[in-house]
Amino acid sequence: MAKTGPTDPKIPRAAARKRAATRDRRSRRPRAHEAAHVRVRLPPHHPLRALVERASRVWGAHLLDLILADTARGAPLPQPHAFADFLQDADLADQVLQLWQKFRYEPAPQIVELKVISIEPPPMWRSGQTVRVNFLLRNTTSQPTSGFVHGTIAQGVKTVVTSGWLQPGVTALQPGLEWSGVVQLRGWSVFSVAARGGADVNLAYYVQVDDDDPRGEISFVWPPFPGQPERHATYGPVSYAYDSVDVPPRRFAVDIRSLFRDYDVREMNKPGREIDLSSYADVKKYASDIYKTVNDGSMPCGYDEHGNLDPSARWSAEWVTIFKQWMDDGMLA
Ligand code: HEM
Repeated sequence: MAKTGPTDPKIPRAAARKRAATRDRRSRRPRAHEAAHVRVRLPPHHPLRALVERASRVWGAHLLDLILADTARGAPLPQPHAFADFLQDADLADQVLQLWQKFRYEPAPQIVELKVISIEPPPMWRSGQTVRVNFLLRNTTSQPTSGFVHGTIAQGVKTVVTSGWLQPGVTALQPGLEWSGVVQLRGWSVFSVAARGGADVNLAYYVQVDDDDPRGEISFVWPPFPGQPERHATYGPVSYAYDSVDVPPRRFAVDIRSLFRDYDVREMNKPGREIDLSSYADVKKYASDIYKTVNDGSMPCGYDEHGNLDPSARWSAEWVTIFKQWMDDGMLA
């Protein structure tokens, strides 16, 4: 038998070794993959969340410092492929460890009770609409408390609305007393249009903390008043409240009709075009053509009724998404 070729016992062994190595690599890969998908169910109020969020911010800030260190001296921005080098920096781990130790060995803060009482959803779920969340804050500690309530509404990982920071402010609420207030949420971006279904309402009560307190989440710098030094304060959440709210399906009368201007209706009603954009039946009938034109920007043409160029005439990405959601929701009246 020949010494080389497929029947040479050395070759199958080498191939078997190679196959085994590949199998090993493959069998390791699913384990890592699975680990990445283990769902850790930390309740939203768990203090570890605050720590992890703080750690990722510190880490992110540090990473930016590393990446931009030479840029301040005039060097060009590093190439993306070089970022991996920055990510391997060992002292990022040290920073996280320091935070962990501080968190682990310092006494937990006294907290104030926060409760969602009711939610007033907007008439239509579009940017600029306001969701009002009524809450109750009860000072169960032995000290007066001052801070503010911040709120968000999220669908999965997507935040669809959020309140402004420092709104509404709570000043020196005495021990044993309650304070009821309203937090207004709005101002979501066009990239986060609410989808039909449920949404999670999350409120948090923030108080001022030391700059290096792991609960510190957000820092404000006030512009100096004449003759006064700049003020700076870091706040962290100390209590949380949740609820959920329903985001109803899109309806023509509520969400779609008002997307068409009177001018659009008049123009498209003209002989030869004859689509009545104010009519549910017509818009439903021509929905996919209408979607095509508003999505590619060919309709409306970008003019107002006096023939002047009107950049706001074209539909925003948010409006196009709302129209598509209406189609997907079954084109309800
Ligand atoms: C089925 C889809 C549509 C078709 C086939 C269509 C077709 C047309 C045509 C052929 C014209 C005349 C174009 C010209 O004079 O240059 C026109 C004008 C116009 N259409 Fe449409 N259209 C559609 C949907 C829409 C929608 C959805 C809107 C509004 C959101 C709209 C708003 C207008 C306006 C305002 C004009 C007057 C021209 C201008 O924009 O200044 N159309 N359309």
